[in-house]
Amino acid sequence: FESKRKTIQSFVRAYPDFPQPGILFRDICPILRDPAALNTVIDLFEEHVKKNHMKVDVVVGIDARGFLFGPLLAQRLGVGFVLVRKKGKLPGSCVSVAYDLEYGKAEAEVQEDAVAAGQKVLLIDDLLATGGTLFAAVELMKKLQAEVLGCLVIIELKDLNGSDKLKPHSVFSIIQY
Ligand code: PRP
Repeated sequence: FESKRKTIQSFVRAYPDFPQPGILFRDICPILRDPAALNTVIDLFEEHVKKNHMKVDVVVGIDARGFLFGPLLAQRLGVGFVLVRKKGKLPGSCVSVAYDLEYGKAEAEVQEDAVAAGQKVLLIDDLLATGGTLFAAVELMKKLQAEVLGCLVIIELKDLNGSDKLKPHSVFSIIQY
């Protein structure tokens, strides 16, 4: 695990003052440019799911970078993938919830029929900062009466205590800063 983790870490770049002054942006794009690195990320997520005997029905990805990794994991697990999007992007009946971001405010939505009551879901995104975004996704899953098995991210910014906000749900991260 440690050597895979180190490899992934070497593919993450930091950009100071993006998208706003004072924010150190952790960029996962180089992972996507390298097929082996991308595969390793999905391996690590899959290993976590298997090790914890998680019986996943649906993988739920967060707009926008959760969409890059979520479908790959869903395919590995042989389950479907569902999108949680920023408000106004999804057609049909949706449930929505407002939330605060590390920088700004937003509203998240999911299609009402995307997850059935009682289904077990795994939430996935590239990064956990304050936890506001994943917390909103948890709220959406609650509205659909789904059961959240846990959250998966590549990067966790520990100082912002996002995992506390998500309790009692577990957070698995590959890299911590
Ligand atoms: C980033 C990141 C997470 C979220 C984490 O997305 O990809 O989705 O912030 O922050 P939080 O834990 O404080 O809620 P961003 O706001 O940059 O949106 P984008 O994915 O559309 O670029």
